Amino acid sequence: MQETIKFIHENKQRFVDELFELIRIPSISADSAYKNEVQKCAEKVSDFLKKAGAENVEICPTDGHPIVYGEKIIGKDLPTVLVYGHYDVQPADPIELWNKDPFEPYIEKTEIHPNGAIFGRGSADDKGQFFMHVAAFEAMNATNSLTCNVKFIIEGEEEVGSVHLEQFLKDNTEKLACDCILISDTSLYSMEQPTVTTGLRGLSYVEVEVEGPNRDLHSGLYGGAVPNPIHVLSRMIAQMFDEKGSIAIDGFYDNVEILSDEERAEMNKLKDDPEGFKASIGLNGVEGEEGYTTLERTSIRPTLDVNGIWGGYTGEGAKTVIPSKAYAKISMRLVPYQTPEEITEKFTQYFNKIAPDNVKVTVNPHHGGMPYVLPSNSPEFLAAKKAMEASFGKEVLPFRSGGSIPITALFEQILKAKCVLMGFGLSSDAIHSPNEHYGLDNFYKGIESIPLFFQYYSGK
Ligand code: BES
Ligand code: MN
Ligand code: MN
Repeated sequence: MQETIKFIHENKQRFVDELFELIRIPSISADSAYKNEVQKCAEKVSDFLKKAGAENVEICPTDGHPIVYGEKIIGKDLPTVLVYGHYDVQPADPIELWNKDPFEPYIEKTEIHPNGAIFGRGSADDKGQFFMHVAAFEAMNATNSLTCNVKFIIEGEEEVGSVHLEQFLKDNTEKLACDCILISDTSLYSMEQPTVTTGLRGLSYVEVEVEGPNRDLHSGLYGGAVPNPIHVLSRMIAQMFDEKGSIAIDGFYDNVEILSDEERAEMNKLKDDPEGFKASIGLNGVEGEEGYTTLERTSIRPTLDVNGIWGGYTGEGAKTVIPSKAYAKISMRLVPYQTPEEITEKFTQYFNKIAPDNVKVTVNPHHGGMPYVLPSNSPEFLAAKKAMEASFGKEVLPFRSGGSIPITALFEQILKAKCVLMGFGLSSDAIHSPNEHYGLDNFYKGIESIPLFFQYYSGK
């Protein structure tokens, strides 16, 4: 292992340079104008995997963006770790809020990252994180310290709901057979308090439409006498919550996992820093469901958020109009044992129930995903904890994250193996936002922790 760590140290700069090459390719999965760039990025990932020593590397086409596969099988009786990551990124807009070109990576120091952070779209989500595995794998290979078989699937559609990965898993269960799935696509609680993610929330996502009059109307001639769809939609959204900040949808909490007081006490060992939390996002107060801490509100409790709302005139100047239609996009984060089907159905029924008779409403469901939990007494968790404790020199705690990686539940269902979420990002990394970045220390700590995970997981 000493040799491997030495190799990592000697090749640090090259790993950063290679990551820069990946970030330079704008692999935006949501925007069809970037289809060729996504393909180019898949090719680059495949080149790096080959160079790192992976065998049978393939770029597997799907009806959407390709999945990159590679493997190194060194012994039939050794455990097999399947590394999952995604090379696609979110769109960069609003581009004007970036300090520099989102696809021309650079390093700059910040308050949280005094040793520098890599700026660029995908630096933390997830290029910088999955590339730690390619680098660690190269180091283990080069220094003969690999103690597990390794398989890689790096996909190109995570940010658009992993639409073709489920079928790929079903079609290739034999080829992807493994003992656990190792993923770096989540955040640490903080650099001072490293964590292994033991839970992700699920997701139900809907778009709603409220239709009033059959055309836009003059707000002078008709105003005051007709239902304005924007007003109606606003009232309906207000009715999504009660006065205690709970979600008012009938039956919304029916299947929510109730944690024992001990479990809640255990998770609240993570030191809440309310002042730091508020300051980091420029707020002077928080809000949420009564009776829960910020940590609980963002992890073990389900939520509802309006992601966008529009309708009527939003251009320059004024236009006196009552719009015919109003729209909103709404996400709901789910916890065990809610399912996206159940919640989408309950949302739809409630939305129809509270709609006044003088408008027409529709609910269009988008992609969704199941929540995920990794037990904190599982061998996978314990190996990750031990590995990170060795590299950070600190106690590592379990941490349930509020984000979603819908494919994790499907991995467990289809491949019958657990997912270990050993992510090294920070919530301040601005993923999906302008000026996304990834700490250099986080990047290196990740590369160093991975070989230790392999070692502990294999028991060698
Ligand atoms: N890597 C994120 C999820 C994440 C980030 C989990 C930080 C925990 C901590 C992933 O790429 C993502 O953005 N997921 C989406 C869901 C997806 C269906 C678009 C999300 O959580 O909104
Ligand atoms: Mn991600
Ligand atoms: Mn993401």
